[in-house]
Amino acid sequence: MRISESAEWQALADHHRDVRDRHLRDLFAEDPHRGEQLTCRAGDLVLDYSKNRLTRQTIRLLAAVAERAGLRERTEAMFRGEHINGTEDRAVLHVALRDPAPSGLRVDGQDVRRDVHEVLERMADFADRVRGGAWTGSTGERIRAVVNIGIGGSDLGPAMAYLALRDYSDRSLVFRFVSNIDPTDLAEAVRDLDPATTLFIVASKTFTTQETLTNAREARRWLVEGLGGDEKAVAKHFVAVSTNAEKVADFGIDTANMFGFWDWVGGRYSFTSAIGLSLMVAIGRDHYRDMLDGFHTVDEHFRTAPYEENVPALLGLISLWYVDFFGAQSQAVLPYSQYLARFPAYLQQLCMESNGKSVTLDGSPVDVPTGEIVWGEPGTNGQHAFYQLLHQGTVLVPADFIAFAQPHHDLDGMHDLFLSNFLAQPRALAFGRTAEEVAAEGTAEAVVPHRVMPGNRPSNAIVAPKLTPSTLGQLVAAYEHRVFTQGVVWGINSFDQWGVELGKVMANQLAPKLQSERAPEYDSDSSTNALVRYLREGRGR
Ligand code: F6P
Repeated sequence: MRISESAEWQALADHHRDVRDRHLRDLFAEDPHRGEQLTCRAGDLVLDYSKNRLTRQTIRLLAAVAERAGLRERTEAMFRGEHINGTEDRAVLHVALRDPAPSGLRVDGQDVRRDVHEVLERMADFADRVRGGAWTGSTGERIRAVVNIGIGGSDLGPAMAYLALRDYSDRSLVFRFVSNIDPTDLAEAVRDLDPATTLFIVASKTFTTQETLTNAREARRWLVEGLGGDEKAVAKHFVAVSTNAEKVADFGIDTANMFGFWDWVGGRYSFTSAIGLSLMVAIGRDHYRDMLDGFHTVDEHFRTAPYEENVPALLGLISLWYVDFFGAQSQAVLPYSQYLARFPAYLQQLCMESNGKSVTLDGSPVDVPTGEIVWGEPGTNGQHAFYQLLHQGTVLVPADFIAFAQPHHDLDGMHDLFLSNFLAQPRALAFGRTAEEVAAEGTAEAVVPHRVMPGNRPSNAIVAPKLTPSTLGQLVAAYEHRVFTQGVVWGINSFDQWGVELGKVMANQLAPKLQSERAPEYDSDSSTNALVRYLREGRGR
């Protein structure tokens, strides 16, 4: 039975009719303790969901929908290693990557925990050697720069987390992340680096991704040329992270310098696998373990806490409330931390590649809207760019505000000013300003409508004491399980990504048309043909 046909969904739909026109001003006025009580905690994360267009009854009904959709059973199936990714016939076990238990979970005949800890130990040993100077380049010099080459899940996690945890990183090392096949990405990343002191980490689950292999090939050319044509240097300057030892060897990287992971780790869920190697080199093994422990804390919370007190489940269910009942199509994520500048980009892949689906597990079309568009920028920059639309525009954009009590650098009390913005924006969004209030300030009558702030714009606040490796892990795990919660209720597979394949195939078909010296066959659609002509002309072909 589809979730939308269940009595629980119907009860939510009926309840929506009662709640949809209620204003947050009234909900707060009627319930003086709302702001203290509509909160919950996971590890160090506190979620305040009181500024949402819902009541306690909404939460009860959403939790009932989650139970009805089988969220509990699906969660247990995930943690047990069942093949819940049906279209790829794979287990989904990123939670095993941060489980401190060293053995005991057998999946498809393998003790996955033992495998995880074995790789983690090799990663830690490698990170120690690079950081300590025992791993040198081919000329015997210490490594000074680490360049991660990867894309999607093989880039966004470590790139986001390196920036987030920069204050915990070894500042004597430089870290760069190259992802785009636009040649400028690699060229700019290496232009001030010395090949003798540069280490490349080629990160690709499949080791077949066009962007990554092309960038890695070019990086190898840059290195070998820079070291006087010494091909043997590759062994000291290239390591790989992959599930595909054969392709790593084909590329010319010794598999002794490969850090493996497994097909049960989805690309966008892979940053706590060996994909996090560059991050581990940056922050060291102990901070990395703290981060994994942070993930694990929220994994266990998600698995065990009742849904009405479950941070990831509530984040997923509240967002679904807006997507399916209020028609919201997007979700803003607004970290009040410059260190989290790449967090929205990271979440775009996590959320949109996972839940941008329009068929259910059995292949039939969904009958309720699914994944939302996720976007955002750190506050306060966003305030001076797009918040106008959030406050007075015609679309409903639920927002997650994220902040940390303690700063890493408090220059003359700036952090309190920063946090005052974090407090002010959700408050203004929720409560707005009425025409009477605006007029009472002596505003000219004609200007009053322009200055009215309608309010009733929903948001969550997520706060933690400080951005640390542990709280970053907790935060990411909360969003991972938020996505899972949504996917289970919608009845979709959050772990495949067939929709990105067609574009890859077409790019491979179109590349020769741009590369060939002779005029190609113009056998695509008329728009693509015209663009190929234009681009060839632009390159003098
Ligand atoms: O964009 C599609 C995708 O398959 C992502 O899911 C993945 O994270 C990315 O490409 C990179 O893949 P790989 O790690 O195999 O290079």
